Amino acid sequence: MRKLLLSNFKSNKSITEANNWLDTFLEKISLLNTSSVEIAVAPSFLSLEEFSQKIAAASVPLQLTTQNISAYPAGSYTGAISVKNLEGLNLQYAIVGHSERRKYFGETSQIVAQKVEQAIDGGMTPVVCLDTEYLEEQIAAIELNLLEKCIFAYEPLSAIGSGKNADVGRVKKVSQRIKTLAGEVKFLYGGSVTAENVLEYLLVCDGVLVGSFSLDPSQFAQLVTTVATNS
Ligand code: PGA
Repeated sequence: MRKLLLSNFKSNKSITEANNWLDTFLEKISLLNTSSVEIAVAPSFLSLEEFSQKIAAASVPLQLTTQNISAYPAGSYTGAISVKNLEGLNLQYAIVGHSERRKYFGETSQIVAQKVEQAIDGGMTPVVCLDTEYLEEQIAAIELNLLEKCIFAYEPLSAIGSGKNADVGRVKKVSQRIKTLAGEVKFLYGGSVTAENVLEYLLVCDGVLVGSFSLDPSQFAQLVTTVATNS
């Protein structure tokens, strides 16, 4: 199975900076055989349209991803970005329930479960982020028949943006726990992943979510190259 390498910009970068990132990244990977990896990028909402056009024009295998979506469908929900708003952008994935959304924006497992439904209605695969303290609660909140359509990402709070990446043995245990509860779903790890440590995680995961290390397009290209040339 191809390993998923997902870059999350979070709230970083202006529109111009994000475009420059894309140009540099595409140039860096242009000669690479990427058939063994699946590369995805989640810039801010404001960059999705331009990224979508550039990716289509360059016909590169880069999957566009939204960092968040509204828990509600199209309608009277001022300020929210619904899946309807995102229609036509060719989004493959929607990250839902990132711990930063839970921490700073009060997202509960129930809200995240609604986002899962919205993402699937909108033709996207939800990437459900979770940590062990609410893992059971989150999986239980998601409709049973939707679980197999989700990808789950273990993102321990202590590892995010800290440089303290999680122990691989622990990641493997969490993967087993998730699969016991949710079935044979795809499983990712996120938290201080770099080009140096990525290969160890890919022994026990179907892919990784990369924040800080992916903000520099050369670094992310290096990570992609490391995986593509070692799998
Ligand atoms: P980090 O972020 O790579 O900066 O730790 C990962 C994430 O939040 O997905």
